[in-house]
Amino acid sequence: MNKFLSEFDSPPNRVDTSSLKWEKYADSDIIPLWVADMDFKSPQSVIDQAKISADHGNFGYGCPPKGLVELLISRSADLYDWEINPEWIVWLPGMVCALNVCCRALLEDSSQAIIQTPIYPPFLTASRNFNLPLVKVPLVLEGSRFTIDFNSLATLKTNPGDLFMLCHPHNPVGTLFNKDELLSLTNWIVERDLYLCSDEIHCDLILGKDLHHISPASLTSKVAEKTITLMAPSKTFNIAGFGCSFAIISNSELRLKFRRAMRGIVPDPPAMGFLLADAAYREGEPWRLSLIDYLQGNRELAMIELAGMDGLVPHSPEATYLLWIDARTLPVDNPHEFFEKNGVGLSDGADFDAPGFLRLNLGCARKLLTEALARMSNACKKLRTT
Ligand SMILES: Cc1ncc(COP(=O)(O)O)c(C=O)c1O
Repeated sequence: MNKFLSEFDSPPNRVDTSSLKWEKYADSDIIPLWVADMDFKSPQSVIDQAKISADHGNFGYGCPPKGLVELLISRSADLYDWEINPEWIVWLPGMVCALNVCCRALLEDSSQAIIQTPIYPPFLTASRNFNLPLVKVPLVLEGSRFTIDFNSLATLKTNPGDLFMLCHPHNPVGTLFNKDELLSLTNWIVERDLYLCSDEIHCDLILGKDLHHISPASLTSKVAEKTITLMAPSKTFNIAGFGCSFAIISNSELRLKFRRAMRGIVPDPPAMGFLLADAAYREGEPWRLSLIDYLQGNRELAMIELAGMDGLVPHSPEATYLLWIDARTLPVDNPHEFFEKNGVGLSDGADFDAPGFLRLNLGCARKLLTEALARMSNACKKLRTT
């Protein structure tokens, strides 16, 4: 029995709470299942800490609370079997900012950035923001799972110092790259003498007891030397609005490059961000495990319902709360607009470099998801009869 079931089943009403996700459709009857945040309350430890901080009433500059770094270190050892050192950690106010800092930091070394498409939109823009050429290597479908196209990588032209930007687990396709895939990828990266930026923001929401997140930098010291790993509690504990993320960089030269690229531009996380991160990691574990259970239930429901809709091919995510749907055979010009008109606001695949696809956010109450799926199903049925 899920200890937090009733909490997940009855999240707070987010209308008129300055929520990006809900304000988009504030004046219309469209269920928002787009941007990647969840409708659930954060764990109680996080809410309690926010109240303590608010009551304290001082909102000056922040620094990490005592014990947070040690907590990250023990968590990393326990959850990812990866021993990290305190000095490897660089605090950041967000992950999009970190992706951009990676590109800026490596401008002198890199002749191009390489990404795998479809992908979370800031991967498409970060290198371009610094006029660093971008190379896209599409993921390939094996069965119904998207994975790395090693044939394309083998023939790809690269120069030493180029930047490979990995999203792992992958947003939007939901793939958790396994050990074999990561070993092949990192061997290629080391052979080619590339840098790796590994965005692992979704690594604490792995949907399955047999699946485990592996950080590429934990595989070998050679890989670690070339890698900037990015993590955050923001997606897992729904505290994205409080901007607290971190990079893990074991190579001191690379860390210096990264810090230099941040200088004068990137602020520290706010005190509240640090404190909520600490509360989430320290006491939010039972909640996180229950959340995973609830998300698996939502995934199962959505997979069954979507598979029955003509014109849609859903891809079951191995991680996180985002479900990627191939809608290219749906007989409409724009699937995203079509479902909006029928009362469901999904993310448009075009934003991820994949027009004709959709991304559905499962991070909501099951009742709301059920209603959204019913609307989608009715819309698909209507298409057949008209
Ligand atoms: C892969 C990935 N990286 C980064 C982010 C955004 O992180 P932040 O809000 O900390 O900028 C997201 C948000 O959805 C994401 O999915």
